[in-house]
Amino acid sequence: MKKEKNRVYIFDTTLRDGEQSPGSSMNTEEKIILARQLEKLGVDIIEAGFPIASDGDFDAVRQIAKEIKKTQVAGLARANKGDIDCAWQAIKHAADPRIHTFISSSDIHLKYQLKKSREQVLKEAVAAVKLASSYTKNVEFSPMDATRSDKDYLVEMVSSVIDAGACTINIPDTVGYTIPDEFGSLIAYLFANVKNMGDTIISVHCHNDLGLAVANSLAAIRNGARQVECTINGIGERAGNTAMEEIVMALQTRKDLYGLYTKIKTDQIYKTSRQLTQITGIPVQPNKAIVGANAFAHESGIHQDGLIKEKITYEIMTPQSVGISDTHIVLGKHSGRNAISHHLKKMGYMLGDEQLNKVAAKVKALADIKKDIYDEDLEAILYEEVYRVEDKYNLVYLNVVSGNVAIPTATMEMQVGKDLVRAAGFGNGPVDATFEAIRSITKTNYPLLKYAVNAITGGSDAQGEVTVQLKYNGNPVAGRGSHPDVIVASAKAYINALNRLEFLKENAKKVKVE
Ligand code: KIV
Ligand code: ZN
Repeated sequence: MKKEKNRVYIFDTTLRDGEQSPGSSMNTEEKIILARQLEKLGVDIIEAGFPIASDGDFDAVRQIAKEIKKTQVAGLARANKGDIDCAWQAIKHAADPRIHTFISSSDIHLKYQLKKSREQVLKEAVAAVKLASSYTKNVEFSPMDATRSDKDYLVEMVSSVIDAGACTINIPDTVGYTIPDEFGSLIAYLFANVKNMGDTIISVHCHNDLGLAVANSLAAIRNGARQVECTINGIGERAGNTAMEEIVMALQTRKDLYGLYTKIKTDQIYKTSRQLTQITGIPVQPNKAIVGANAFAHESGIHQDGLIKEKITYEIMTPQSVGISDTHIVLGKHSGRNAISHHLKKMGYMLGDEQLNKVAAKVKALADIKKDIYDEDLEAILYEEVYRVEDKYNLVYLNVVSGNVAIPTATMEMQVGKDLVRAAGFGNGPVDATFEAIRSITKTNYPLLKYAVNAITGGSDAQGEVTVQLKYNGNPVAGRGSHPDVIVASAKAYINALNRLEFLKENAKKVKVE
């Protein structure tokens, strides 16, 4: 990759580190949809997965590599032959494939995890980079837990892997331990002491355990880092990774200070964030910077007064710049197939005939119970009806009786594989009764960790968007459902979580990294 002066490269790891966050696993189809959107967003590199981790990961990386043409596609590999060969097999069809290999550099990891000496680990790092370079010149190396490593050993490792062929060196704050001043100094130290740095791009990969991932990445950029590894909505291991939308908008909004740019099409940010939420069912907190529901909502009277007089008084960036537009009515009862197709194209979704028929039918059904259909409603239909892989469980009908004198009762029919199964459930309320009926039909009983309801748009006829989290193997598995009737939305969300859980069972990962 030819380094452009003043450009910060955006390495998106939503599909790899992001997917490791509890409850965020995606199936291959969903990963491909997100990869297409990341390409549209303009990220420079998509880390599509960790191919050796499971057959599902390998297959997803391979399909993304084949499909994505404008963006580099990276596959992660530990510093050993098996991982590197496997990563190469998965990414080799990409237009610009990158192997990202890593090994720990901190004494803590060497002593307690790898049980190897510094010399041994250095040798393995060099051998890995040499092997990866025999496949592609586009090789990235990460000394894992770099921020808790001995600085001079880090310099030695970085310098050795550059000699071996690495063109990008990524400095991970694996456990989210560093703070901005310290991390900035570490990057400066590497530039001052790695004598063969040449055109190598220094990248950073920060975790958010202390809430400092974005600040640490910015400090590194101030000291010469030119690639940032980040994820949409900041998802990732534990407290997550550097949030793409935050780092990009910080660089853009404070161009006066940094004098740097990215190639991100910022008006695609909100859509990408929404898409990830739709796919994983994990909502963004309302006060999340850039993409949270309140990010551009001014509540204080003094602020509102200032905004009316002049926007610059309280607005440092516009909602439009990140792709948030005022919600507007897009379709209604009388919108035909052509109008729907036209509008979907404007939103960036190209559907085949069969998919369009499905959406048109759903829009019509929704318009019977809800007067105006908004972009957000259309997206919910798309992700629930079109982009989902074939599910084991499907809702056929649901009838609920509740009230202050009734025993809440849900009667429902579901399709389980090829069979139609009916049951009734009682509960403390209509949602509880519905979940009881689902548990009885599916013969499952996973603990319910979370249940949350949101309105997708404004108005009392807005669709309810329900998120449910079930516990499986100690981890949360999320499901999402939307419908103007929140009880139906709840049933859809619970069933979606069960389907995701089935998918997880079939695609259990063999290996995990930070
Ligand atoms: O956090 C970390 O150290 C990682 C590496 C694999 C880059 O995710
Ligand atoms: Zn990480």
